[in-house]
Parts: sequence; structure tokens; C-alpha cells
Amino acid sequence: MSSSKTIDNGIAFSKKQEQVISLLKHKKLKRINLLEGSVRSGKTWISLVLWAMWVATQPKNACFLMAAKTLTALERNNLNLLVSLVGADNFKFSVQSKKATLFGRRVYLEGASDARAESKIRGLTLKGAYLDELTLFDEDFFVMLLSRLSEPGAKLFATTNPDSPNHWLMTDYIQRADDGELDFLRIKFLIDDNPYLSDEYVRSLKAEYTGVFYERFIKGEWVAAEGVVYPEYANNSKCYTVEKPPDDISFATVGVDFGGNKSAHAFVCLGFTKGFKSCVVLDEFYLKEQISPERLSQEFVDFCKRQKEKYPLYEAYCDSAETTLIQGLKNAAMREHLTIDVKKAKKTKIIDRIRFFNSMISQGRFAILEKCENVHSALCNAVWDESKPDDVRLDNGTLNVDSLDALEYAAEPYMKEMISKI
Ligand SMILES: Nc1ncnc2c1ncn2[C@@H]1O[C@H](COP(=O)(O)OP(=O)(O)O)[C@@H](O)[C@H]1O
Ligand SMILES: [Mg+2]
Repeated sequence: MSSSKTIDNGIAFSKKQEQVISLLKHKKLKRINLLEGSVRSGKTWISLVLWAMWVATQPKNACFLMAAKTLTALERNNLNLLVSLVGADNFKFSVQSKKATLFGRRVYLEGASDARAESKIRGLTLKGAYLDELTLFDEDFFVMLLSRLSEPGAKLFATTNPDSPNHWLMTDYIQRADDGELDFLRIKFLIDDNPYLSDEYVRSLKAEYTGVFYERFIKGEWVAAEGVVYPEYANNSKCYTVEKPPDDISFATVGVDFGGNKSAHAFVCLGFTKGFKSCVVLDEFYLKEQISPERLSQEFVDFCKRQKEKYPLYEAYCDSAETTLIQGLKNAAMREHLTIDVKKAKKTKIIDRIRFFNSMISQGRFAILEKCENVHSALCNAVWDESKPDDVRLDNGTLNVDSLDALEYAAEPYMKEMISKI
């Protein structure tokens, strides 16, 4: 690991972070300055120091912008840290009014996750911008922002983890920068560049990621998702298979994916052990044939009744596209006094759901009952769709994506709790 040393004002920097500050001191910054690489490698921390030091040297009447995927993320990851770095006298912010002052300069605050975000910054004239986690931004926002950075000597500072090589940031900017077309500086950070993390923490962080996620978030590489989606499970599925459910299931949820022309009806019952230590696939229903809504409702009721005999089960999460079918399940549950709240699935981004299960698998916090053969084979056989630019699972009718959808709907509402228990 690299060492750290203290610089003039008493703040300690890692060697890598010092290199960044030295670029500022020697006026080697470019118009776009991107700090990229592994998670927890110290990018955000030093990017804020760099940003503050640079803004302090800019004209008093210039305007600036700070943005992250959402305002909440900006506050949590950046604004609070910036206060602790430069002091509450030098940085004041109000998320509600989306304004801040940094060393007396006016700073606008924004969230940039969707296409509408672009309209929020139309018409601004900016001298500088700070963006955290740039790959999560909408490209239109970024394009608009570059056009707003119209003052002479305007600069952009951004951090990011790597993504797919087909991501807009790579194809439209980083590659063009590498070809010398843009005034662009790219600095790569690795976890081992950060001396402020304990060895134990780094070990557990590395254990959290497998496959493409390890390549991107640990090794800091822009790699495509290829081959199997759950490599650790596919190669060692026996290690995750159990004959009986664990004794400490605190509650269970059911996920429901409705079948269509080529797809199956799938229910998955997922248990969570005490303190969100692990999640266990407890039971499944899988039927690949056309059935009436009445039959579907009856299958659902029977499935839930069987689970309720064994586990505390109060919620079912269903494919949210099918509102009439959901209503059917709701009615059936009421009629049979099931005491199950039948809700729409959250349907978060598929890549986040895949990352979640890979992380649980590699941390040994995932298990599956032997009898759940469909979920098992779906996890073993899932492959990335290499013909698509985004990270998506192949869904061509030959593979069982339905069991995975149901599994994910069951897990979604508790993913945050599970992740925070690392
Ligand atoms: N110069 C530093 N001094 C003290 N702690 C630091 C420093 N740089 C980074 N850290 C620590 O490392 C953690 C990860 O850094 P961060 O900048 O959030 O990483 P990244 O943005 O690359 O994911 C921070 O939460 C902080 O605890
Ligand atoms: Mg960060």
C-alpha cells in the first residue's frame, strides 16, 4: 500500500491524491478532469479538496455547479464531506433551495439522473462544475453542462467508477480524449492507492464483488459483461445448496413474475435470517403454460398458504406491468384471509439487482433449498447478452429469466438493509 503524508494545511493525502493536488499547483489541470477507478480509492475525497482549492482562486462573481445522481446522494456523499474538509464558515448549503456558497462563490446544486435534469441547467453560465459518479448521469445533462461551461478557463471536475466500454462516457469522451480530440485529463485510482482503509476492510470489500463487477469496481477496468452472470454460483453451486431452511428465518417475502407467450409464471419465496445476515430461497413455483387468471390466483394462494405454515410471510411483490393480474391476486388473498399484502414490485435497475445477488453470493450470505431447481438452474445458466450495449441478461426465450425476476422482486425491498449489514 502507498504511504500518506501531511501537506501544508494539516490535511493528510495519499501519494495518489498528492499527484492530483500537484497538477493544480502546477497549473496542469485541463478543461475536463476525470478521477476514475476502483471504489473507496479516495477519488471523491480528493476531488472535493481539489474543487474547493480551485474555486477559491476563481473570480468572486463567477457561478458554479455541483451535481450527483440525486440531490440526496450529493448531500450524503459530497456536501457534508465538503463542510468537514473546508469548515462550515467556508461552505454553506441548502439542499432545499439548491444553493450553496463556497469561499463566498455562488454554487448551484442539482440531481442529474434523468433526461429532464438537462432542462434544470439550461441558460446558466458557469465557470466550473463538480460531478460525483459521472457514469450514473444522463448524457443529455452532461452535454448541456459542457455547453454551459462557457466562461474562459472554465473547468469540470468529475469522479466515476468504470462501466461498460460501450457507456457514453467512454465512447463519446474518454476515447476521444485518448485520441487527443478533447482537453481532457484522466487520472486512475485503485483501492491500494488508499492507505486510509484497514487491511480487513479492503479484504471484505474485495470479497463483495465477483465477475464483471470485480473487474470494474475493484480493478478499475472498463470491461464488458460477458459470459455467465453469476460465475461464483455457477461454479460452486453446491456450496450454496442446503437441505433444510436455517432456524433463524425472521421473515419471508414472495416475488411473482407473470408468464406471457413464451415466458413462465414464477413465484419465489425468499427468507431473510435474523439481523439480515443472509437470504435463503425457500420455495418456488414455476409453470410454463397458458393458464386462466383464476387458476393463477389459486396457485398463488396455495403457494402462500404453504409458506405461511412455516415462515412469517406478509408481503408479495409482483411484476408491476400486470395491474389486472395483481388485482386478481389481491382479491384472492383477501377472499382467503391470507393476510398478505400484495404489492407492485419496485423494479429497480436490473444491473443493481444482479450486483446485489452476486455480492450476497460472494460474501456467503446466499443459500437455496435443494428443491428449488428452477431458481438453481436459472442462476447457473444466466448469461450476459453480448449483442446489447448495456449490461443486460440474455432474454431470448430459451433461458429462464422468470425465476430470476421473481427472486429479485422478493429481495428488492430489503436490498438496502442487506447491503448495509456488510
Ligand atoms: N486523504 C484522506 N484522509 C483520510 N481519509 C481518507 C482520505 N482519502 C480517502 N479517505 C477515506 O477513504 C474512504 C474512501 O474514499 P472516497 O473518496 O469516498 O473513495 P471513492 O470516491 O474512490 O469511492 C473515505 O470515506 C475516507 O474515509
Ligand atoms: Mg466516490
